[in-house]
Amino acid sequence: MKAIVQDVYGSADVLVLRDVETPVPGDGDVLIRVRAAGVEQGVWHLMTGLPYLTRAFFGFKAPKNPIRGREVAGRVEAVGQNVVGFRPGDEVFGTAEGTFAEFVCAKEGKIALKPVNASFEQAAVVPISATTALQGLRDSGQLQPGQEVLIIGAGGGVGSFAVQLAKVLGAQVTGVCSTAKLDLVRSIGADHVIDYKHDDFADGARQYDLILDTAGNRPLSVLRRALKPRGTLVIVGGEGGGRWTGGFERSLRAALISPFVGQKLTGLMATERQEDLRYLAQLIDAGTVTPVIDKSYPLGDAPGAIRHMHDGHARGKVVITV
Ligand SMILES: NC(=O)c1ccc[n+]([C@@H]2O[C@H](COP(=O)([O-])OP(=O)(O)OC[C@H]3O[C@@H](n4cnc5c(N)ncnc54)[C@H](OP(=O)(O)O)[C@@H]3O)[C@@H](O)[C@H]2O)c1
Repeated sequence: MKAIVQDVYGSADVLVLRDVETPVPGDGDVLIRVRAAGVEQGVWHLMTGLPYLTRAFFGFKAPKNPIRGREVAGRVEAVGQNVVGFRPGDEVFGTAEGTFAEFVCAKEGKIALKPVNASFEQAAVVPISATTALQGLRDSGQLQPGQEVLIIGAGGGVGSFAVQLAKVLGAQVTGVCSTAKLDLVRSIGADHVIDYKHDDFADGARQYDLILDTAGNRPLSVLRRALKPRGTLVIVGGEGGGRWTGGFERSLRAALISPFVGQKLTGLMATERQEDLRYLAQLIDAGTVTPVIDKSYPLGDAPGAIRHMHDGHARGKVVITV
């Protein structure tokens, strides 16, 4: 099969389209014929091996799995003997290791039936970004109806889902983004928008019950200024941190300070699971959440897709079609 592989860490230039062995499903695996694969910042981190901390988990000289991509939508081709929930022909979406390929094996618990009303492209951009937004708002953020939430990076992959999911959870939503994305963020349901190029959301004019921080790496002191005295800060991430630990220090500092202040300050480590995928599929089928796709690329141009996504200009998500 064809796949996008790398032999060393580096920029998108290290990626090549190559013939590799088609994977064989283990007992608990589902073999998926890939139709589309989402592109998210995790792909860039695994490709570059940055921050260096990631190499301790994924390989010191090169990623242990040379095929990139973690989000997928496609059709089940075959199932392992212990798989009970899926059969060949099912249309599914979820996460797996190495989705920029014609086939990929996924664990049964990491996939769900694709939302009927979504295309493969739309379904493929959901698994990591929407799950992260959901777990940040609902689980770490404990968002309650009527609360005011600030979403930093509202026009991005996680942010565009977070705006819509916060509305589903009954919140008043303010989205922070650049000028070019204001219309998008309004159109997906934000009650208020703040253009961070011109306005400062931490100027004291307004404070929030929950801040979901997906971009900008702002100091904790700035974020806490925009938070109500008993509010919650959930740090999802942000590009451009240091080369050794990335934005991890900020999450660590938040965890250390949190017990001593009235506000709850926490980092997030999202875990993709089937029950969340099923819930997200229901919302998409009901039309209450719609994946936002900026641009679609063919498999052979995965390097272009990753560059476009990492430049930060994408409105919502970037997808690869296979
Ligand atoms: N913790 C976890 O489990 C987890 C899971 C998934 C992702 N993440 C991390 O979460 C972060 C966001 O991921 P993503 O996929 O949503 O990335 P993304 O698609 O690139 O979105 C980030 C958005 O932030 C905006 N932005 C950039 N600088 C900003 C600033 N100073 N203030 C406000 N907004 C700014 C960008 O566009 P504009 O500047 O044009 O507005 C972009 O739309 C990444 O660092 C990723 O690694 C963490």
